[in-house]
Parts: sequence; structure tokens; C-alpha cells
Amino acid sequence: MSLDVKYPSMLELRQRARRRLPHFVWEYLDSGTGQDRVLARNRAALDAIEFMPSILVGEVEADTSVEFLGVRHDMPVGVAPVGMSGLIWPDAERILAREAARAGIPYTLSTVASQTPEDVQSALGPHGWFQLYTPRDPEVRRDMLRRAKAAGFGTLVFTADLPVASRRERQIKSGLTQPPRITPRILAQVAMRPAWALAMAQSGMPRMRLIDDYAPKRTLGLTSNDHAGYHLRTSPDWDYLRATRDEWEGPLIVKGVLNEADLSGLEAAGVDAIWVSNHGGRQFDGAPSAIAMLPRIRAATTLPLVFDSGVEGGLDILRAVALGADMVMLGRGWHYALGALGPVGPRHLAQVLRADLLSCMGQMGLTHVAQVRGRMIDHAPFAL
Ligand code: FNR
Repeated sequence: MSLDVKYPSMLELRQRARRRLPHFVWEYLDSGTGQDRVLARNRAALDAIEFMPSILVGEVEADTSVEFLGVRHDMPVGVAPVGMSGLIWPDAERILAREAARAGIPYTLSTVASQTPEDVQSALGPHGWFQLYTPRDPEVRRDMLRRAKAAGFGTLVFTADLPVASRRERQIKSGLTQPPRITPRILAQVAMRPAWALAMAQSGMPRMRLIDDYAPKRTLGLTSNDHAGYHLRTSPDWDYLRATRDEWEGPLIVKGVLNEADLSGLEAAGVDAIWVSNHGGRQFDGAPSAIAMLPRIRAATTLPLVFDSGVEGGLDILRAVALGADMVMLGRGWHYALGALGPVGPRHLAQVLRADLLSCMGQMGLTHVAQVRGRMIDHAPFAL
């Protein structure tokens, strides 16, 4: 049976990933924080956006490509940074970079990835973005930026929405430590997931390899939310952002913006684009849904906008574009695909997203993605 029949959407990939991943890996990937209220809020707010379908438009050829920061991408979709992707599947970062290049979309490598910029270099296409968790030591920052640039990452993503670590209670309860350690409890979870266990037996437990190059070796016994990356990083402020701006020559995107009051400062700091996100509901369970904040941010700046948090398919991508996003990212989705199907998962998901986008555009008679901006139904709560 073809993948299209068994896994026609991200949701089937998610279900299979849940069956194939050990419980602690699943909780790491899937959980939010607190009571997961923001996860629910993200979903409900996206679902509330409605569009009027078209009739009698004749044959329409839809083009999913978009321009973002002066570069053409085949879809307004990309891969958001996810730390320790290698915990989901061995070689995850390289697989995702390669499949993003094949699909003509951006791939973002996290500072706390399980592979380094150099590891990913040969798989990276023209749209490589590097995400920075802010090292306390400016020399470490400069070295990371230098390495990312030398490895072919042209765009820098500065994540600003982690002032402190989040508690992520589901993750704590699962028994996960950083770096992942084999305790009897973890071993029992692994024993129930043979496909994952076999794959990992060949590659070994993943580590944060970039961080390892700088962190003190004293990392044993840290809890799941207290990994070496947190010892290395600081909580950035405006001066930190300006210093980073001065040191990075390419486009700079600030990730984790929800408040339009921050925009004038971000513009003054010389940021090239804004990434509207609530970190996929993983940081602060009191935060608003990211999609509900998007129209206010769109109205307050002319900078290009990236959006993520809760996107499940082509319809959600169009919803975000309708409210002002220029590029829409998925974090968990690509990793559900990896967990479900291993290396072939991300390619399948890229095809699913593209097919779904084309189908939704067809229902509305759109030839270009941006045309969706006029198509929201005005009784819906997010009408502009
Ligand atoms: C993340 N995210 C994240 N963001 C970031 O800037 N650096 C990082 O290292 C990570 N790590 C990370 C790990 C895991 C397991 C998840 C699920 C998420 C947040 C990520 O980039 C993105 O904002 C969200 O995942 C978007 O929400 P969805 O698409 O997962 O709903």
C-alpha cells in the first residue's frame, strides 16, 4: 500500500510516530508545557479561520512558490529548528536538510541539534538557516556564527522566547535526562519500541554536538530541562541582539515574537524579518495562540513575517498566509514523519503538504498563494 494511502496527512504520521517512539522520546517531541493549554489554543484559533470557496472558476493552475527575503522557495513552508532531532531518528538533521533542499524550502539547524553545522554541510541546499541560542561568552557566539556561515548557513534565526527554561512537566515525568541516559525506566520504554531501538543501537545515543564543543564536561546527571546548552547560554537582552546584528552579515530573523509593542525596537535593531511563534506551546502556558497575534503584528510592521505554532497541513499554511505570514514553518510535523517512517518520512510529508496546499488553493480558485489574503470570511473572528 502506498504511503499516500496509509498516511494521507500529518495526523496519521503523528499516530504512527507515537506507536514507534519510546515514551520519553514521544513526550520530548509532542509535549507543550504546563497543562498543554497553549497547544489547544493554537489549534482552536487556527480552526476558527474560514475561507469562502469558489465555484465556476474554470481550470486553474495553482503555483505554490513564494519569494521570501529575496529568495524564491517552492512552497511557503520550511523546517523550524528542533533541538536533538537525532533522538527521534539517527542522522535526522542531515535527512531534514537534504529533503528540504529537494523540496526547495528552508531548513533551520538548532544550536542544540545533535549534529553540527559541519555535519550537515554536505546535505544542505541553498536555503540553510542557523538558529542561535545565545551563548553567554561572546567568543563562543562569534565562533558559532563563523562556523555556521562557513558551513553554508546564510540566514540567522535569533530565538528570543526562552528567557528561562520552561518546566515541560510531561517531559520530566517521562524520565528523560540530558544527555539522555539509560536508566532502568528508559530501558523498559526502549524495549517496547524495537524499530527505534535497532536504529539507535547502530548510531549510539545522540548528544548536542555543537554545544559539546564548548560546554564544560560536567554534564552528567542533568535533568531533562537543565541540559548543557542552558549552562552555556544567557538570557539575551536588546544589547545582545544588537551585538549579534553587528556580527552577522546575512539576513537576521528574530524568533518568538508575539507582542506588537516589541516591533519598533526590533526594527531599530536592524532585524530583517520577524518570526511569530509561541514556540509550539512549549514555553509559557499562559501565552496567547500565535495565530491570534499575527494580524496585529502584520498591521504594525512592513518586515517579512515567518509563522509557526500548531500548523498541521496545507489549510493551516494558507490560514497563516491569509493573516500576513510570508513563510510558515513546522517543527513537530517533520519529526512525526521521521518517527513514523524514518528517512523517507520527511519527503512524504513535503509531498503531502504540497498536495494539500494545491487542493485548498483549487477549492478557492487561487493561482498564487498570496491571493488567499482576501478570502477570509468576515464573520470569522480573525477577519482583518
Ligand atoms: C522546538 N523548538 C525549538 N525552537 C528553537 O528556536 N530552537 C530549538 O532548539 C527548538 N527545539 C525544539 C524541540 C522540540 C522537540 C520542539 C517540538 C520544538 C520550537 C520550534 O522551532 C517551533 O517553534 C515549534 O515546534 C513550532 O510549533 P509546531 O510546528 O511544532 O506546532
